[in-house]
Amino acid sequence: MSTSPHRVTADTLDNQWWVGAVIYQIYPRSFQDSNADGVGDIPGIIDRLDYLEDLGVDAIWLGPVYETPDADFGYDIANYRAIDPQFGTMADWETLRDDLHERDMRLIMDLVLNHTSDEHEWFQSSRADPKSPYGDFYIWRPGRNGGPPNNWESVFGGSAWTYDEAREEYYLHLFDQKQPDLDWSNPAVRQALYDIVDFWLEQAVDGFRLDVINFISKTSGLPDGDPYNTSVVGSEHFINGPAVGEYLQELCNEAIGDKDILIVGETPGLTVEDAKSFVGPGRLDMAFHFEHVSLDAGDPEDWTYGEWTLDELRETYTRWQTGMYPDGWNALYLGNHDQPRPVSRFGDDERFWYESATMLATLQLTLRGTPFAYQGEELGMTNTNFESPAEVADVEARRYIERQLAAGKTFDDIRHEVEFRSRDNARTPMQWSDELNAGFTDPTVEPWFPINPNYTEINVEKQSSDPSSVLSVYRRLIELRKAHHVLVVGRFVPMLEDHADVFAYKRLMEAATATVLLNFSGMEVSVPSIEGEGESLVFTNYTTSAAKKDDRLLLRPYEAHVYIAV
Ligand code: GLC
Repeated sequence: MSTSPHRVTADTLDNQWWVGAVIYQIYPRSFQDSNADGVGDIPGIIDRLDYLEDLGVDAIWLGPVYETPDADFGYDIANYRAIDPQFGTMADWETLRDDLHERDMRLIMDLVLNHTSDEHEWFQSSRADPKSPYGDFYIWRPGRNGGPPNNWESVFGGSAWTYDEAREEYYLHLFDQKQPDLDWSNPAVRQALYDIVDFWLEQAVDGFRLDVINFISKTSGLPDGDPYNTSVVGSEHFINGPAVGEYLQELCNEAIGDKDILIVGETPGLTVEDAKSFVGPGRLDMAFHFEHVSLDAGDPEDWTYGEWTLDELRETYTRWQTGMYPDGWNALYLGNHDQPRPVSRFGDDERFWYESATMLATLQLTLRGTPFAYQGEELGMTNTNFESPAEVADVEARRYIERQLAAGKTFDDIRHEVEFRSRDNARTPMQWSDELNAGFTDPTVEPWFPINPNYTEINVEKQSSDPSSVLSVYRRLIELRKAHHVLVVGRFVPMLEDHADVFAYKRLMEAATATVLLNFSGMEVSVPSIEGEGESLVFTNYTTSAAKKDDRLLLRPYEAHVYIAV
């Protein structure tokens, strides 16, 4: 959080480190195993810091490594002040922090403050004794007519309430039943959470990614939700709830003060209008909205999915890019540990894998905001396949499969949806080399999740030595962004808004201008030539020049161009 005005300009680049930064997201269990137990760990990350430094990223966002029973792979925290032994020790974590800092890189911790694990001692005590100091740390209610207290659904499906035999009441969990929601309306809860923030600040972390932070305030009285809500029933009462802004300001004032700490919020259901009130001085520095990654979503109850269109994608990006200008800042992402792989979703991972992966990288690295690269995206890693329900590890997907099988469907009936939607797609281990187990773990052990079989083709070792690989292009685009501030802070102006296949935009900063042309189709398409406007072509993902016809430039499948005038 910063207390300075939020208008981001060329000057701000110098005093707010995250403005010009590219941040790399690590999903710890899938990045690098160092002790041959098949699960990635902190010493494994330390071993790979040269790779990250060489890629040119400025910071890592480390997925949760706290003590956890792993119902939701770390997003269910049992002890906020301890490292889970599967990931290493606190001493390992300190080494990671120090090694990063020595390289002038920063460390962002993932904090889950909306809920804990049901194995956290607060919940254990709350469940055992309503009069204990933690008795009202969670949201407990008696049942209604023999069922749950209201009709709210969990984001993972099914009721958001579970009956607890010990306390003889229901507790609220907006995610899995092993993730009870904390009651943020209780000041003692808020204080306990600020103490945790403080604990990590004392360990010299550089920022926090706050998990589902716009879910912390619930409408008082917990009224029933609209049963026809096309998203999750009840969500109008818990997403962007009445006190979110107040709680965020309090958290920033009490726990962060004027420290130079990045606070990025994960905020499903956030609109540009909401963002204007949650992002800014004394609040979040930036927020992950979900609009572009919801364009192909179907019905949450039966995981159908639709087709996204370029018009919708362009409209969404344009709305956020212009809506957050000049007083806001965007957190830019195409993939993360909850999303399908971008090249399998917005590109074509079969016919134009290379072209579409590099075109998407160009999009990601030429917009206004801070780009987050999710591990493997820099290689063009793809979605995977599942032969049977036994191969599915993610709690959301497993719950979905259970409900569908109980309703009489077979795995084959839903396999397509699971393969598209399962969060496991993003969590297949990092592909370092073509040796057995892809260099992720010892070749003799079984990795916690199967490696994507395409690791023999898509891996770091192979791409490192190839100057035109997806990895080399990614690195080059990061360098380009750093060399041209217009790509970081310049105003975004859409171009060719009616073009059926090309997403095009200008970036403007004082005398500097840039133009980006991105062919989102697998066909050759034409755009008006922009030659003669004083900008030169500084990047393309093809090795030969694009042809011209009359006054038009012919872009090949997924061809990307960046032009700059300084
Ligand atoms: C966030 C995390 C996701 C987790 C959920 C509940 O959306 O990114 O992985 O399952 O919150 O904590």
